[in-house]
Amino acid sequence: MSSPESVASVASVDSVVRVRVPAKVNVQLAVGGRRADGFHGLASVFFAVGLYDEVTAVPSDRLRITVEGADAAHVPTDDSNLAAKAARLLGARHGIEPNVHLHIVKGIPVAGGMAGGSADAAAALVACDALWGTGSSRAELVELAAELGSDVPFSLLGGVALGEGRGELLTPVPVAGTFHWVFAVADGGLSTPAVYGECDRLRELGGGSADSDVPAPAADPVLLAALRSGDVTALGAALSNDLQDAALSLRPGLADTLRAGTDAGAIGALVSGSGPTCAFLAKDAAAARTLAEALESSGSCQAARLAEGPVLGATAVN
Ligand code: C5P
Repeated sequence: MSSPESVASVASVDSVVRVRVPAKVNVQLAVGGRRADGFHGLASVFFAVGLYDEVTAVPSDRLRITVEGADAAHVPTDDSNLAAKAARLLGARHGIEPNVHLHIVKGIPVAGGMAGGSADAAAALVACDALWGTGSSRAELVELAAELGSDVPFSLLGGVALGEGRGELLTPVPVAGTFHWVFAVADGGLSTPAVYGECDRLRELGGGSADSDVPAPAADPVLLAALRSGDVTALGAALSNDLQDAALSLRPGLADTLRAGTDAGAIGALVSGSGPTCAFLAKDAAAARTLAEALESSGSCQAARLAEGPVLGATAVN
């Protein structure tokens, strides 16, 4: 892995900075009670996978966002874009006018539960820091990232990490080897707040309270051991997502997608984060290719994408 310092120093000599940033899947997403601030306490085991967005930063007369890629039409190009917010936040911290053109090439499904928007924000922080020579430490960028969104710090860090609090308090998790994933991309996205809201509604429907009655979330020691030893079968069996029932409730057709992958030999299957992308773990690279073909021909998803992980977080690639 290249150090954050080397990334910044290589990139700062250029007036164009290109940053590659990965998607994530939560191999465990334990959702606790709703907190007073409306967020949910989490024990989230984030896992960075090789589906990438690229963000290119060049000087401009104003802050501009352009987006390219399959779902580009669904990504806002105004101030609500998280990458724009990231540039403004970093600029404000250093007294710099955020006059930058950020061009985003989307490879991560939009609103798919794979932290695509968070990835762009993390990439924008790294790119603008290099372009403006602000020389932020990785800890300073992580602090700004947490202000932007719960998943943004992980998009900076990459690898595998346990996220606590609302997901922003990260501890790296040791992993052995490489895992082979297939992601079934759905038609259309799901709103993350809507899925959390549905999770609360289902909990209340079950007779409890969505805040006080929910046990404190905790990382699963069996899952952590599977990651540490590189045991793909054990990881497949331990995958879990407390938002899955809520995503299935809002999008019942996802049950067909999960079944299609399991029938085609996946050794683990779950909804990725708040969905609707479904994630499947394969035994090896060949099994992943077979699985992707089976998912595509099942008609239960829009496309199947192969990705390995874990991979690095947001990294300059000039
Ligand atoms: O942090 P972020 O802006 O990505 O969160 C988007 C939304 O997802 C929040 O507004 C909230 O509705 C929900 N969320 C939550 N608990 C978390 C993270 C996100 O309820 N830990």
